[in-house]
Amino acid sequence: MLQLTDFSARLIAWQRVHGRHDLPWQNTRDAYRIWLSEIMLQQTQVSTVIPYYARFLERFPDVNALAAAPVDDVMALWAGLGYYSRARNLHRCADAVATEHGGEFPRSVDELAELPGIGRSTAAAIASFAYGARATILDGNVKRVLARVFGVEGFPGEKKVENAMWTLAESLLPDAAHKDEVTAYTQGLMDLGATLCVRGKPDCVRCPFAPDCVANVTGRQKELPAARPKKTVPTRKTWMLVLQDGDTVLLEKRPPSGIWGGLWSLPEAADEDALAAVAHSLGGTNELQRLSPFTHTFTHFKLDIEPRLGRADAATELADNHTVWAPLSNIDAYGVPAPVRKLLDALQGSLI
Ligand code: ADE
Repeated sequence: MLQLTDFSARLIAWQRVHGRHDLPWQNTRDAYRIWLSEIMLQQTQVSTVIPYYARFLERFPDVNALAAAPVDDVMALWAGLGYYSRARNLHRCADAVATEHGGEFPRSVDELAELPGIGRSTAAAIASFAYGARATILDGNVKRVLARVFGVEGFPGEKKVENAMWTLAESLLPDAAHKDEVTAYTQGLMDLGATLCVRGKPDCVRCPFAPDCVANVTGRQKELPAARPKKTVPTRKTWMLVLQDGDTVLLEKRPPSGIWGGLWSLPEAADEDALAAVAHSLGGTNELQRLSPFTHTFTHFKLDIEPRLGRADAATELADNHTVWAPLSNIDAYGVPAPVRKLLDALQGSLI
C-alpha cells in the first residue's frame, strides 16, 4: 500500500486554507451542539440540516432541555429530516446524558459510542471536535478518500475491508497533536470528501494528494472505492410444454402459492423426459419440437426456460378443472405470467 508520511500535515494545511470554517456547528467545543450536528448530518446534506439545527438549538438550548421535552415534540421538530430512528435515539441519548452522566457528554470515544445513536465514527467526531481527542472518523466520505488516495481495494462495506480502513485511518492521525490540529484534521477529512473527492466527478486538480493518490495517478477514480459486489442469484431450469391444437393451447392453473401462484401457465417438468411424460398424459403426440430457450429473472433467482411444442386433440376431455384449452387470440382473458405470455405471442403467428 502507498506510504504517505505527511498525510495529516498536508490535510491540515489544506483544511486551514481551503476547508469549511463557518458551518453553524464549527467554532464551538460544546459537545451538545457538536453531537446534535453530527446526528443530523448522518445521511443528510449540510444545506438541509442548517435550518433544522437552528430550530433545535432555539427550542432545546442544552442537553437537559432536550431530555426534558416530550418525545413527540422532538419528532415534530425533526419532521422532514427523515430516518426518524435518529430522532428517537436523539431523545434517548439526551436522556442518558442527563440522567447517567450528570448532563455532560462523556469524553472518551468508548463511552460516547455506548450512547444511543452514536456509532464508532460519530463518537470519534464528537471526541475530536469537542475535546480535541486523537480519534479517527470513518464515514462513507472518508472511506472514499482513503480508498482512492491509498488504493484500498475491495468493497468498503465488507467487514474485512472496513477493518483494514479503520487500521489505516488510525495510522494516519497526526501524532501528539494540538487540539486545534485534531479539529482541522477531522474537519479536513470531511471537507475533502465532501468538496473535492466527491463520488461523481472528483476535482483532483485542486487536491493536495493528487501527485500521490493511487486513483488519480492510475486514472481509477471511477473504480475506487469498489462498488458493492453484485449478488449472484441462483438459476433454476424448467421445461415448458406448449400443447397445441390449431389456434388453441393448453393452459394449466398453478398452485395458489409459490411463483406465479394462481396464474394460468404452461405445464412444466424438471427435464426433457419428464415433459414427454406430461405431454403423453395430456393426450399429446410423442413428438416434441424444440423452441428457443429463454431466461426470466425474478428478484431472487433466474429461471431458464426450455419450451417444447407438442400437438394434441383439444377435443380430448381432461378430467380436471386445472386445465383449459385457451384460444391464442384470447390469451388476455387468462392471467398468464409475462414471460409465458411473450412466448405465446411469439408463437401465435407461426402456429396458425
Ligand atoms: N458531515 C458530518 N459531520 C460534518 C461536519 N462536522 N461538517 C460538515 N459536514 C459533516
